[in-house]
Amino acid sequence: MIEPHGGELVNRVVPEKEKLKILEEIRDLPKITVGLDALLDVENIATGVFSPIKGFMTGEELLSVGYNMCLPDGTVWTIPIILQFKEKPKVGERIVLQDEEGKAKAVVDIREVYKIDLPLIAKLVWGTESEEHPGVKLLYSKGEWAVGGDVWLLERINHPLRDWILEPEETRKIFEYRGWKTVVGFQTRNAPHKAHEYLQRIGLEVADGLFINPVLGWRKSDDFEPQTILTAYEYLINNYYPKKRVLLSGLATAMRYAGPREAVFHALVRKNFGCTHFIVGRDHAGVGNFYDPYEAHRIFDRLPKDIGIEIIRVSAVFYCKNCDCMASEKSCGHGEEERVYVSMTKIRDMLRKGVLPPDEMIRRDIAHLLMDVQNLTNIHS
Ligand code: ADX
Repeated sequence: MIEPHGGELVNRVVPEKEKLKILEEIRDLPKITVGLDALLDVENIATGVFSPIKGFMTGEELLSVGYNMCLPDGTVWTIPIILQFKEKPKVGERIVLQDEEGKAKAVVDIREVYKIDLPLIAKLVWGTESEEHPGVKLLYSKGEWAVGGDVWLLERINHPLRDWILEPEETRKIFEYRGWKTVVGFQTRNAPHKAHEYLQRIGLEVADGLFINPVLGWRKSDDFEPQTILTAYEYLINNYYPKKRVLLSGLATAMRYAGPREAVFHALVRKNFGCTHFIVGRDHAGVGNFYDPYEAHRIFDRLPKDIGIEIIRVSAVFYCKNCDCMASEKSCGHGEEERVYVSMTKIRDMLRKGVLPPDEMIRRDIAHLLMDVQNLTNIHS
């Protein structure tokens, strides 16, 4: 089984038998209510999804990640994991993070309270300071104050799709049980279209198993609802894929839309789940025209160290009228005029208007299913 990133699966979940003692210790500590994104970060740290990260980053760690794409000890890491506040929090050595219902969920052992240079971090990580970028906008909206320090999770977060969330310890056991020596991870924030399917079939060809791991956390408002994505994938797997060679589970973290940097983060997270391979297609985790569509391929050659998971880079996938099948820039010899590019934006717009998208882009049954799930009617083919 592939080693987790950094060598060891982080486990910062307070064991049941120590919980009473800790709850007693934290009774009089300051409690801060934080949103779902921050709590999910804690849970992902605590259950090893973000291994080797053990807590929220300090100023030094954040700058190291920003400038060098690694933690101060040289371990590759490309995305900030930070606990942000709009005002300087009044805290001592420890704080308790509670959910909106006032339930204590986690403890942070504070190492530093500091101010983030938000435009600098935006530029280093997202490549832009522009608030037009949804990831940057979210970063700015959370405030310039941060608390760095290791975390302990008291209780799993209430998540409406909890049944869909597997932790690295669980996925590793499942991969082992199924006898998968090689597993290819697939990241997505979308319901499956035909280009996704092409990539997944490449994965099934290369590895023993395919781990489809859609993002269930915050996404920009025009992306699909996570439940819709899961339902569509369940259908695709049950009706088209070799079921025993595929595992579907959600990743409860926010999309950052950080393009190349997020491709690396996505690969590291899937390595922690036990994947040996990871697929990076065209414009992975990109948004608008912020990134060169192949920078997410090239970034893996610029990392300060090898990250120990094999990246399967696939170029733009389209339907070629001449080949009469899905193909990619690397596998098709025909020209632009023969190509029908698959665009999720187009598919979504058509579905919203009740128009059935072309078969070249998405399976008709999946399009119908998406319309049903999203309560859209008046389908025109
Ligand atoms: S992402 O934000 O999660 O990357 P999406 O769910 O659309 O968005 O993509 C999932 C994966 O499929 C990514 O690796 C992406 O690069 C790849 N992908 C999506 N569409 C295409 C396409 N038409 N050609 C090649 N790769 C694609």
